[in-house]
Order: sequence, then structure tokens, then C-alpha cells
Amino acid sequence: MMWEIGSLMYQLIYLSDARSGLTPSALQQIVERSRQRNRTANVTGVAVMHGGVVMQLLEGPEAAVRATYARIARDHRHGNIAIMLTRRCRTRSFPAHPMAFHHVDEDNRSSVQMTMNMLRARHAMRMRAVNIAS
Ligand SMILES: Cc1cc2nc3c(=O)[nH]c(=O)nc-3n(C[C@H](O)[C@H](O)[C@H](O)COP(=O)(O)O)c2cc1C
Repeated sequence: MMWEIGSLMYQLIYLSDARSGLTPSALQQIVERSRQRNRTANVTGVAVMHGGVVMQLLEGPEAAVRATYARIARDHRHGNIAIMLTRRCRTRSFPAHPMAFHHVDEDNRSSVQMTMNMLRARHAMRMRAVNIAS
């Protein structure tokens, strides 16, 4: 992806609750199907599922990331979806992965739980700041 040097990337992280039926293996299949789409759209990233919660990072050109997120947000297989973080950056964190996927087991559970909690706390703090400002 040499041609991307000099152009800004956009990263977006969302959290959502898996509805019943969205099991780790169902999500694994969705993600496999999504890879071709993401490759075509020049989007890369990673999805993690833990304790019925999905955390996904999408990255690429801003318009492509936003369009992908808009499609995902309409999907009824998960709910209570919310963007936790967006940022512009120079390089991708997952340049080699149209969409990596991990179902997190006991071994590395705590760091994922910590990340999810940290994102939620940060999001709640931002929401409070918006409420105070308006
Ligand atoms: C948790 C979750 C993650 C998903 N991630 C992606 C993704 O990275 N890229 C993608 O194209 N579709 C992803 N999908 C599938 C989309 O929601 C959607 O079903 C698919 O893109 C087809 O959309 P369309 O029927 O509106 O064209 C994901 C779905 C779920 C439930």
C-alpha cells in the first residue's frame, strides 16, 4: 500500500452487543464474507468478540470507512452500536488484514475487557461533556 504514504487514514472503533444468534462462529463467517468487500473498499481492521460484545476497528480512506460503518450499523444481528473513537492517522494499524477476527478466550480476556471498559468510560465522559456544553 505504498501509494498511501502521504495520504491520511481514518480509524473508527465501535462497540455493539451481539444479539442472540450472533455467536462467535456466526461472526467468524460474517467476517470471512466481509473480507472481500473490505478489500475492494480498501478497508482493513480487526474485530474482537468477548462476552457477547463486539469491538471492531475499521481503517482506510475516510469515505470508505464511513460507508462500511453505515452498512454495519444497519445490521440487525447486533444492537446498541456506538462509535467509541475516530481519528485521523498516517499509517494503518492492520495493513495486512482486510478484517482479522478473534474470539477472545480466558487467556487474554482481561486486556480486552480493559480496553472495552476504557473505551466505554471515555465515551461516557465525552457524552457528559457534550451535555454540559449544550
Ligand atoms: C459485527 C459485524 C461486523 C461486520 N463487519 C463487516 C465488515 O467489516 N465489512 C463489511 O462489509 N460487512 C461487515 N458486516 C456485514 C454488514 O453488516 C452487512 O451485512 C454486509 O456488509 C452486507 O450489507 P448490505 O446487505 O447492506 O449490502 C458486519 C456485520 C456484523 C454483524
